[in-house]
Amino acid sequence: MGVHETIDHENRERAKFREMKQGTAEDWAIIGGEYRAFAKGLPDRVLDHLKLLDGDFGGFPVDRLEHSLQTATRAHRDGRDEQYVVMALLHDIGDTLGSYNHPEVAASIIKPFVSEEVHWICQNHGAFQGYYYFHFLGMDQNARDKFMGHPHYEACREFCEKYDQSAFDPDYDSEPLEFFEPMVRRVMEKPLASMYAKAIAEE
Ligand SMILES: [Fe+2]
Ligand SMILES: [Fe+2]
Repeated sequence: MGVHETIDHENRERAKFREMKQGTAEDWAIIGGEYRAFAKGLPDRVLDHLKLLDGDFGGFPVDRLEHSLQTATRAHRDGRDEQYVVMALLHDIGDTLGSYNHPEVAASIIKPFVSEEVHWICQNHGAFQGYYYFHFLGMDQNARDKFMGHPHYEACREFCEKYDQSAFDPDYDSEPLEFFEPMVRRVMEKPLASMYAKAIAEE
């Protein structure tokens, strides 16, 4: 059960304004307190959403949750750090709500918590992954070439080659989601950068 489900929303104190321009310090103390608690529940919400990929095969040899676990397991066993492994775990989480731009959904979720390079890999893995199948669907296999010369080109190519395109093996012994949960919680513990950083700072 996620943290958000344990909150009694009906009986919580609420701000009094009808329009934001009527807002008072009192109103925003209430909302700020709620926000801090809600933000802490992010790892739970992300893990809950990732579970929606369970049983979703889309014609692939493994379902999307197994693909995610396998990508993360391969990255972890290859010695990647936690930011990278969490990115690998979540890289396709956008398949449900971003059916036409899934890499950007995952990239946005992890952006406050990872390096610029790890974010870039996530955001652009779609074009690099296309190298392995776009030509079967009438698309340009070399779509990734538009990023040639970019400082993160090689890192993204490597992610797809070593961990993503290789993670469709039904016989691979992937770690279970519980194995990665503590990593997700550690990586999402505190944003490295956020326009709301001051609002989540404890008084
Ligand atoms: Fe993907
Ligand atoms: Fe993938």
